[in-house]
Order: sequence, then C-alpha cells, then structure tokens
Amino acid sequence: MHVILLGASKGIGYQVLQSLLSSAGSGAEQQQDQWSTTLLLRKPELIEQDATIRPYIQQGRVRIVKGNATSEDDLRKCFEGVNVDLIISSIGATPSFTLSGIHIDQPELCTKGTIALLHVLQDYQTKETQAQFPLPRLIVVSSMGIGDHHREIPFAMRALYSWLLTKPHQDKLALEYLLRRSSTSFPTPDPSSNPNAIPPESWLPQSTVHSIQSDFLPRVTIVRPAMFGADGPARPASQLKVGEKAQVYFVRRSEVARFIVDECVQKGGWVNKLPVIGL
Ligand SMILES: NC(=O)c1ccc[n+]([C@@H]2O[C@H](COP(=O)([O-])OP(=O)(O)OC[C@H]3O[C@@H](n4cnc5c(N)ncnc54)[C@H](OP(=O)(O)O)[C@@H]3O)[C@@H](O)[C@H]2O)c1
Repeated sequence: MHVILLGASKGIGYQVLQSLLSSAGSGAEQQQDQWSTTLLLRKPELIEQDATIRPYIQQGRVRIVKGNATSEDDLRKCFEGVNVDLIISSIGATPSFTLSGIHIDQPELCTKGTIALLHVLQDYQTKETQAQFPLPRLIVVSSMGIGDHHREIPFAMRALYSWLLTKPHQDKLALEYLLRRSSTSFPTPDPSSNPNAIPPESWLPQSTVHSIQSDFLPRVTIVRPAMFGADGPARPASQLKVGEKAQVYFVRRSEVARFIVDECVQKGGWVNKLPVIGL
C-alpha cells in the first residue's frame, strides 16, 4: 500500500508519517500491509537527516520528491512508478504575529495546492489504466469553522476566528469548496443559501473553478481540527469528541494525527465525511 504525504516535514504530517511507517509488523504476509510512502518536500534534507525516518529511507519505504505542493509538475512526479492508494495532505502556511496583525507567509497555499492536486488527479483518472489503478482516497486537513460550519462552532470560537483567522480561513474555504465540488458524494456548497459558503471571485475565479472537473473523486475526507493547543502527547481517544457536529475548542496535533491513522486509515472510517475533532 502506498501513500503520498504532502506536508510531512513537521506537525501533523510528520506524526502521520512516523505512525504509518511503524504501524505494520514484520513477516512475509504483513509486509504486504506495510505502508510505503512518497513525500513531497521543499527541503528534503530535513527528513533525510532525521534519525527516525532514515532507516525507512534505506529500506526503500520512504521515497522523497523535492518540490512544491502548488506545482502540478512536482505533484505529477509523486505518482511516477507507484500505484497510489492514499493521499494525505496537511500542508499549511506559517503565520507570524506582528503589531499590524497576523502575517501569513503563503496566504493562498491551500487554494493553489488544491487546484494543482485536483488537476493532477483528474488527468490520472482519464488514463487507460484507470480500472487497474482506481483513484486514491484523499484525506485533507482543513479546520473547523469553515464556510457553513462557522455557524455551528461554539460562540467564543466564532468570535475568535472572525477576528483572527479571516485570511487563513478564506484559503481553507477555497480548499473545502474545490474538494466538495470534485467529490462524488458531497453536495457543492450553494451560494443562494449562504453567500459565504463559496470563496469570492477575487480569491477563486470561476474560470479556475471550471478548469477542474466536478464529481469525480469517490473517496474524500476533510478533517476539521479545532484550534491547536500546546503540543504534547495525545490524550486518550475516549476524552476527545469526534463528529461532524462536535462542539469543541482545542486539540493537539498528535491527536489529529492519531485520528487520521487509526480511525481514517487503519479502520477505513470517515470516508466522504467532514469530521471535527477536539475537546
Ligand atoms: N493552527 C491551528 O490552530 C489550526 C487549527 C486547525 C487546522 N489547522 C491547519 O492544519 C494543517 C496542519 O497544521 P500543522 O500545524 O500540522 O502544519 P505545520 O506544522 O505548519 O506543517 C505544514 C507542512 O506544510 C508544508 N508546506 C508548507 N508550504 C508548502 C509548500 N508550498 N509545498 C510543500 N509543502 C509545504 C511544510 O513544509 P516545509 O518544511 O517545507 O515548511 C510542513 O511540512 C494546516 O493546514 C493548518 O492551517 C491549523
């Protein structure tokens, strides 16, 4: 089984990588169930020097493609020579806080990354080999409170998100809108019921939207974590709330990574759902 990981140099993506690599035991039969990975990384040297990951690179279970997640050419390289079962994306821009407010180093990262990935996947689908290599499952990390979901989160978080996170959430809104439109299961958000449910033309032009095929991805999961609290080991899963309507405030990256690996990947759950996770 092969997974392409986008955003695996740190944060949730790194913890997902570690967990997937260590999840299957040894033995001839189990080797078939072991995950091999392709990582798309801007700075491969960080992972190549990582003492935990290096043995897996030497075993051939981690392949690294140097590139940018917003580049179709770089993403295409990830698919070369492998049958991809799964794609997990947890790419994220880096915020910094200044006197004039929040600054994001790549404000359109998720928008551009999603456009590029969907362009690559729609080409992958039209290949003659489609029956042999069905479209992979896609698991993407977004955030709670995006689009329609803003109305459903706790009041205190609604106020905080509106004040602090308008820009990053615009980027996630485009990500979610494009994925929902390209999925065969999610309804595409309807602007007549909520004009804020789709990104404005200035952020995501209709000409770009229409360059992407609709209704072709059979298995999509959009994970919507609560706000990240201090990092630390994952607390018992029984303490966390998970559900499309879960009312939550904070979560740790380790808890999101464990949810993705245990519940979404290993148990195969949450296909075509938008799980919110937190406490
Ligand atoms: N902060 C919150 O409270 C919160 C809450 C809910 C959801 N989220 C979202 O959850 C997601 C995961 O968060 P996280 O904290 O785990 O992320 P993170 O630690 O900041 O890691 C982001 C990853 O994205 C990669 N990346 C950034 N730009 C890239 C590019 N142009 N091409 C390829 N890779 C790129 C980074 O690689 P490099 O090493 O190259 O930088 C890194 O591996 C993010 O989308 C974040 O916005 C955040």
